[in-house]
Amino acid sequence: MRPLLLKGVRPYGEGDPVDVLIRDGVIAEIGSVTADDVEVVEGSGAVLLPGFVDLHTHLREPGREDTETIETGSKAAALGGYTAVFAMANTDPIADNAVIVEHVRRRGVEVGLVDVHPVGAVTVGLKGEKLAELGTMAKSAANVRVFSDDGHCVHDPLIMRRALEYSKALDVVIAQHAEEPRLTVGAQAHEGEQAARLGLQGWPAAAEESIVARDCLLALHAEAKLHICHVSTTGTADVLKWAKARGTNVSAEVTPHHLLLTDDRLSTYDPVNKVNPPLRTGTDVQALRQALADGVIDCVATDHAPHAVQDKDCEWAAARPGMLGLQTALSVVVETMVKTGLLDWRGVARVMSERPAEIAGLPDHGRPIEVGEPANLVLVDPDATWTVRGAELASVAGNTPFEGMELPGVVTATLLRGRVTAGRIPA
Ligand code: DOR
Ligand code: ZN
Repeated sequence: MRPLLLKGVRPYGEGDPVDVLIRDGVIAEIGSVTADDVEVVEGSGAVLLPGFVDLHTHLREPGREDTETIETGSKAAALGGYTAVFAMANTDPIADNAVIVEHVRRRGVEVGLVDVHPVGAVTVGLKGEKLAELGTMAKSAANVRVFSDDGHCVHDPLIMRRALEYSKALDVVIAQHAEEPRLTVGAQAHEGEQAARLGLQGWPAAAEESIVARDCLLALHAEAKLHICHVSTTGTADVLKWAKARGTNVSAEVTPHHLLLTDDRLSTYDPVNKVNPPLRTGTDVQALRQALADGVIDCVATDHAPHAVQDKDCEWAAARPGMLGLQTALSVVVETMVKTGLLDWRGVARVMSERPAEIAGLPDHGRPIEVGEPANLVLVDPDATWTVRGAELASVAGNTPFEGMELPGVVTATLLRGRVTAGRIPA
């Protein structure tokens, strides 16, 4: 592979443009670089960041290749600026054993556009009854580092406690989908004025917050690492702040859709807005933004959830929850966090790359932009805008709630170990 010279780019959006020379997948030089026999990429002052890491992606393979595959999901990820993604375990068959996680890992390597790390299920069949073989999956060729029953809550406190104890011994993370199932039977929308007006069964904030509080205490006592998926309420942010102050080893993610959209969107009953946990209120949105800016919430994760047309173009109650996120995440973060002054580009690098890489223990992602570091990078045009069209996204499914929106921030190139995986530049 010929060396690549990024001409006139701004690491972290700071200072005057510099040139970055990449050789053998590693950053070789930063400054004013002249070199022969290199592939030149004109940066035109674009912002250079470490490649994004998504702790929460549904790639649907195996089982629902009619909605997404590891290949199409990897393309969407690369186009969104990602260099590593964590593929959730709720596939069919479920990723609760070494055979499935090794298959997902291998397929990701074959596609080669983004590092695909399989998430292992915490319990057999995501049923919440019996622990899956966490150790076997952790020690398999897939080297599983994150375990989650996402889509389901590990609701039994005894099972959750055991999972945390095992996770400590294995030095892995348990990522909890916090939803007390007894409080969300039949739930269709955030419990509040909007759900009442629309006649939809409510999903109370307490169903999330009570599990988060319980699990923070379990993790504190077990001295284990806990990660909270898709935080959606003000109260959860408060609990996390308290738990972190107490020394709990807890991290948390927020999705782009919970940073931008509210349950006002539900008035049309369009199931594109149905997601779990549900869209909440404007007050929650503001609290989540602030918590992300303050570090109470560590990172952004997409919860990219492709669904087939027949599972979305139907009546609200029958529709599946979930929305696409990989290709729109950066732009939503720019809209909600950068344009509002809550984060600068260093902050974007922190929440989209550095913190998620640290949480999952990825040594080669989320690294500083320095000589000798792996060239897992993304170039962003901060001034450009684009209009989201579901049909034009790389995913098989098209269920984006951002359809037709003009959003700021365009990914112009993504580099995985120095190789261009997306963008306008010759690969
Ligand atoms: O909206 C969601 N969709 N939330 C989840 O927890 C699961 C996901 C899916 O798999 O579709
Ligand atoms: Zn979930």
